[in-house]
Amino acid sequence: MSRTRVGILISGTGSNMEALIRAAQADDCPYEVAVVISNRPDAVGLDRARALGVAAIAIDHAPFGKDREAHERALDAALREAGCAYIALAGYMRVLTPFLVEGWAGRMVNIHPSLLPRHPGLDTHRKAIEAGDAEAGCSVHLVTVGVDEGPVLAQARLPIRPGETPETLAERVLAEEHRLYPAALSAYVARSPAGLPSDPAPRSAPG
Ligand code: GRF
Repeated sequence: MSRTRVGILISGTGSNMEALIRAAQADDCPYEVAVVISNRPDAVGLDRARALGVAAIAIDHAPFGKDREAHERALDAALREAGCAYIALAGYMRVLTPFLVEGWAGRMVNIHPSLLPRHPGLDTHRKAIEAGDAEAGCSVHLVTVGVDEGPVLAQARLPIRPGETPETLAERVLAEEHRLYPAALSAYVARSPAGLPSDPAPRSAPG
């Protein structure tokens, strides 16, 4: 049975990327990781992906200067070339323009280290502790133009303990991320409509 091809975008360590790749090694996983792309050529995650047998390339944003869309056109071309039907962001540290977000609407997911809609943006663990939240966690959500605003597909939650620091909380949440993301991506891919085209619909199509 052919599996749905997913491209993963990273900028750094790639621990969530690794969790997604390892989950895809199971025979019954509905997706396979077709390519990993980093906007940073020095991202540790690139070597991690290659060590796991996955094609990994850098498409550096720097040469594109302020033209974010031109960089995204290069990403888009590489993802299509690899036959991807979905994109999973995994620590991809650039805000995307409508070009990529709308071109892949409903086909791009992200993991965020908070219980969205609480604490979008950066420094989520400090924010959760300082707000006196009883719980923290992580969210897998669809990517829309508003940063961290897309519909939530799945969450994992854990209690914030007395004396918790942003560092201890980050470690505990990250372990949850590694469980949640592969499960949520598998579930999302598996319930996609039958007859999913191998390539996203052309953006120029009317309607
Ligand atoms: C994770 O905390 C994830 O939730 C956030 O960026 C971090 C990426 O870590 N979006 P890693 O590169 O997957 O280790």
